[in-house]
Amino acid sequence: MKTLAVISRKGGAGKTTLSINLAITAHLAGLKTMLADIDPQRSASDVLRARTGDGPVLAEINAGKLFSTQVHASNHGQDVLIIDTPAAPEADVLQAIQCADLCVLVCRPTFLDIASVVRSAEAVRRLGKKGVIVLSQAPSKRNGFEPPAVLKAAEALRFVGMPVSPIGLRARTAFQQSIAHGRSVCEWEPGSAAAEEITRLWAQVGPMLLGNEDIRAQAV
Ligand SMILES: Nc1ncnc2c1ncn2[C@@H]1O[C@H](COP(=O)(O)OP(=O)(O)OP(=O)(O)O)[C@@H](O)[C@H]1O
Ligand SMILES: [Mg+2]
Repeated sequence: MKTLAVISRKGGAGKTTLSINLAITAHLAGLKTMLADIDPQRSASDVLRARTGDGPVLAEINAGKLFSTQVHASNHGQDVLIIDTPAAPEADVLQAIQCADLCVLVCRPTFLDIASVVRSAEAVRRLGKKGVIVLSQAPSKRNGFEPPAVLKAAEALRFVGMPVSPIGLRARTAFQQSIAHGRSVCEWEPGSAAAEEITRLWAQVGPMLLGNEDIRAQAV
């Protein structure tokens, strides 16, 4: 079993949205997937409870139960464990990083998010873990041009010393609407731009997690 932790010390960056979309995508790809919600807000749990039909197994736990949940899930044939983390406290986030084979660092294209990702990346490195940065809620291109905030963020993130996925997520209403129904964007609006972003992101992050391919550091 492989474990992916979705991290951002900034509230509202898009951790839960990404965790849900990756967990459902892994599930639909035929992997036995568990989503561990260690955030006392229980947002990921609310989303999965709104879901009808089959889907990822939900573990609604506190960070202290993460390790035993991981062992239990592995012993019971789960293929993938995705951890949706809170922004704080730090000890809970570190616990998730410690359990992870891969950390996805979620980052909006803002100065404060980038400063926060620098610290998270340091923690991931210190614990000897693999990480990848994913831009979230990026404004869309205007007249075919990338908005300056996205260009600046991509430039700044090059210096964090961790791969930046070229596949970011734009700010799109489909991400908000789909999770209200317990669905991934791929189920909610198949073929949409949002669905394409998640499909392409999983095509990169999935192999990184499952260990059969690596990602090259590149800007968005
Ligand atoms: N790509 C996106 N496009 C549009 N809205 C988004 C996107 N990602 C997240 N959101 C919205 O931003 C808000 C915060 O998202 P989310 O709950 O996923 O963040 P979070 O990092 O898990 O927050 P917290 O730190 O509180 O756990 C939600 O209202 C969500 O619907
Ligand atoms: Mg959350």
